Amino acid sequence: MDPSNGEKLAHRLAEAGQSHLLRFWKELSPEEQHAMTTDLEAMDFQEINGFFKNAMAMSGGNEQTLDSRMEPVPRDMLGSATRDEGCLEHWEAQGKHRIARNAVAALLLAGGQGTRLGVPYPKGMYDVGLPSRKTLFQLQAERILKLQRLAERTHKTNCRIPWYIMTSGGTTESTRDFFSRHDYFGLNENDVIIFQQGTLPAMDYDGKIILESKGKVSMAPDGNGGLYRALGSQGIVDDMVRRGIEYVHVYCVDNILVKVADPAFVGLCVQKGADCGVKVVEKTDPTEAVGVVCKVDGRHRVVEYSEISPATAEKRRADGRLLFNAGNTASHVFALPFLKDVVRKHEPRLRHHAAHKKIPHVDARGRTVEPDRPNGIKMEKFVFDCFQFAETFVVYEVPREDEFSPVKNADSPDGKDTPTTARHALMSLHHRWVLNAGGRLVDENGTRVTAAPGLRGGTDLPVTCEISPLVSYGGEGLEEGLGRITYNKQ
Ligand code: UTP
Repeated sequence: MDPSNGEKLAHRLAEAGQSHLLRFWKELSPEEQHAMTTDLEAMDFQEINGFFKNAMAMSGGNEQTLDSRMEPVPRDMLGSATRDEGCLEHWEAQGKHRIARNAVAALLLAGGQGTRLGVPYPKGMYDVGLPSRKTLFQLQAERILKLQRLAERTHKTNCRIPWYIMTSGGTTESTRDFFSRHDYFGLNENDVIIFQQGTLPAMDYDGKIILESKGKVSMAPDGNGGLYRALGSQGIVDDMVRRGIEYVHVYCVDNILVKVADPAFVGLCVQKGADCGVKVVEKTDPTEAVGVVCKVDGRHRVVEYSEISPATAEKRRADGRLLFNAGNTASHVFALPFLKDVVRKHEPRLRHHAAHKKIPHVDARGRTVEPDRPNGIKMEKFVFDCFQFAETFVVYEVPREDEFSPVKNADSPDGKDTPTTARHALMSLHHRWVLNAGGRLVDENGTRVTAAPGLRGGTDLPVTCEISPLVSYGGEGLEEGLGRITYNKQ
């Protein structure tokens, strides 16, 4: 390193109270010194210290005050796939119309570390064990392909749904490689845009940046709300503008049932002139650890289960349903002008949350320590924190068993949100599609299978029934060609 640059860096570190990062400098090889210098020079320590201060201030919690300021979502801004069934066709038509005009994009949040699932590769590459052995990425790609075809058929146009995929340092290369190896699953390569979110250093509770090894800072992705900064810094919003995008469906990688670029959801947002929409499922168990969408001080936001008292979580309406029952599925539609404002104006106002973690590090003597309890924080923004800036906000309620089954955890007996529960949810949905289309399933002896699908809790094994997204996006078009389908027990 040029000595004057070295001095500048040491000075910047000293000013920010982070000089300990150079504690092992003399023990590093020239290559390690070079790599560390490159990493450190890219960091704005004052900004990082500010993020830490705010994140710690926020993590204090304010349950008592939040409870009294919460109101449920107003009915006029709530669309329900079941209670407003009569409107569905209209919403779908509106959404498909936008899709056919190439004005709708999908944006996948795929930058997480998937620690709970515990696989060493991006979650999208996970195969939950369906008969087809399709991965989450492939299921989503094929839903996009099918939706393009459906819109093309209705509107007699050439339709493209650009698919933006946000990855993080650890997932970018393998994601790119996976898509390239699979020929983008039939999508046009130019319409699959992979971009990388930012990272931030992990901090100890005294605000010191953590060293993972003598010459390396411990870094982590800056949360799914890192999206907004990345959309600006990677030129993605500009790309959306260039392509004439009007609405963007933003969703998480792990929901096996996700209706990518869902036309009904887009159409509802179009109809209500919404800046932003969120898809929710009904929360029925007050103790379920899911965030609920509600209003706080007149602005929409997601309130986490841990942020409210059990008494508030248990409040019920006259019809017996929970008062705060709009369970967040992390599936959002943004109107592009709103998204642009978030990226260009509001992003700095979104604060990082502190995720308390066990962070491996080197101690003062340079020995690696694997802590057995949280020893610091990772700083993360959340994708839904921008809701507060929306003037017109809609909530779209859909049946959980049709649309939401995330893969969060590794399989375990009675595990929740596991590959097994996701696989069962998908097969059970497809079984219902067959029945709704007038099909029937018979076993190897020709006896009709009468078991009612729609299992919950894994007590019952579903029929092995999987329908390719290339055949049906949401259960449509199955009437022809269905007669008897033989099934095998799992
Ligand atoms: P989760 O909160 O479930 O995190 O992410 P995760 O990293 O996938 O899993 P755990 O918590 O380590 O087990 C919800 C969604 O947000 C994305 C994930 O890819 C997933 O789609 N995400 C999360 C990002 O894109 N970036 C992040 O920094 C964090």
